[in-house]
Amino acid sequence: MGGKCGGASVSAAALDTECNGSDITVITANVEYINRQHEALLGWLSKQTADVVVLGLPMYNFGVPSSLKAYFDHVARAGVTFRYTAQGPQGLLTGKKGYVLATRGGFYRGTSRDSQSSYVRDFFAFLGIDDVEFIYAEGLAVSPDKRDTALDAANSSIAQLAA
Ligand SMILES: Cc1cc2nc3c(=O)[nH]c(=O)nc-3n(C[C@H](O)[C@H](O)[C@H](O)COP(=O)(O)O)c2cc1C
Repeated sequence: MGGKCGGASVSAAALDTECNGSDITVITANVEYINRQHEALLGWLSKQTADVVVLGLPMYNFGVPSSLKAYFDHVARAGVTFRYTAQGPQGLLTGKKGYVLATRGGFYRGTSRDSQSSYVRDFFAFLGIDDVEFIYAEGLAVSPDKRDTALDAANSSIAQLAA
């Protein structure tokens, strides 16, 4: 471990650079640094330049991957992507179409164990994206045959949507 790596006074960005290659992993809660990351993540959303939002959504432990949850936490910003009104929260990303490509090792679609779909649909609607289409590829870990069939069906659905 290099003696240079670490120290309370350096910025999170400097820590990242200095610790690169050492045996320390930098996990930072530096607010300024995180805010800059938020701005980058929010760029295309807050400027409302995207007409279509496409989300690749693997199922991890019956829910969304933790990285996607973190992303959702970053982009749900009061006054930017939604706002509070006397009638309750109102999404500000209106007029967009959403596509969610949901992949799973097993089969969950349409069952009570598929909380993932409703969570993602609710989150998109919360931001104002309420026209969302889900394409599923399930059973990917069941057998090579099931995997091929599921991927063929998903690809056909995507081709139809793109036509
Ligand atoms: C950490 C982890 C957790 C997973 N949990 C589930 C699960 O709860 N249910 C399920 O059907 N598949 C689960 N899977 C399988 C993934 O959903 C499947 O591999 C993924 O949708 C296919 O995308 P990939 O090609 O990126 O792996 C899990 C995979 C990983 C890596």
